[in-house]
Amino acid sequence: GEYRKPEDHRFSFDGPFSTFDRGAVQRGFYVFNQVCAACHSLEHLAIRHLGQPGGPFHDPAYPNPNDNPVVRAIAAEYIVEDGPDEYGDMFERPGRPADRFPSPYANEAQGRAANNGAYPPDLSIITRARHYGAPYIRSLMMGYGEEPPEGVTVGAGLYYNPYFPGGLIAMPPQFEDGLLTYNDGTEATVEQMANDVTEFLAWASDPHMEQRKRLGLMVLAYLVILCGLLFFTYRQIWSKVK
Ligand code: HEM
Repeated sequence: GEYRKPEDHRFSFDGPFSTFDRGAVQRGFYVFNQVCAACHSLEHLAIRHLGQPGGPFHDPAYPNPNDNPVVRAIAAEYIVEDGPDEYGDMFERPGRPADRFPSPYANEAQGRAANNGAYPPDLSIITRARHYGAPYIRSLMMGYGEEPPEGVTVGAGLYYNPYFPGGLIAMPPQFEDGLLTYNDGTEATVEQMANDVTEFLAWASDPHMEQRKRLGLMVLAYLVILCGLLFFTYRQIWSKVK
């Protein structure tokens, strides 16, 4: 269906050598956890990934994220299903860093039943899975509240959002100014929460981006030096040929 092109926005991670904004990824995780996790899974990520190098809660004092106290505390807030135990029963226990993020629904059918037939997609690779990527997610989250154009009827359980293909989305608006209280004092406006959750989802979709860019930079530097060496070697070798 038709859709509006997402608003342009410069993210901290745009460009070949840029990095994620750690504060934004941390805030974005908070938004994800408080808001999105009620309906969306993050199935490609384990909780410990939050503490790996490049992750929002990485601490060099804990090279093994399973030992990172912040990550352990985050994990312990989740209730995960485990088992079967020695009697063949499933049981629940507090999460550990090695666990995956628990999914809100047991399966797709349950997810659809809870959302008027629409399925909230997994968000772990969403910024790569959607055309326009990060700017689309940001605009989508900010894109509610406009009157639908003449002739468009918004059915029950649907919301008008011009950035969503077709314009009618089954996801209700998620943000209003001041919905959350960030612990770093940042004011939680709709735009701020949209920026932050997008930054988090961009990290989740590409958790090794920073390492990859660093490696790219090193390869480039290596090639530049190699070129220089080859050039002088060439001059040396041919210097006696007149
Ligand atoms: C779809 C993000 C919270 C229900 C989506 C999509 C994204 C998204 C990116 C996919 C749009 C597309 O297919 O192009 C988020 C974020 C959230 C959030 C970042 C938190 C800030 C929620 C919550 C619910 C929900 C809390 C349930 C109450 C849905 C549903 C769909 C959806 C039902 C499918 C819509 C459709 O296909 O019409 N969401 N979401 N979302 N979301 Fe969310």
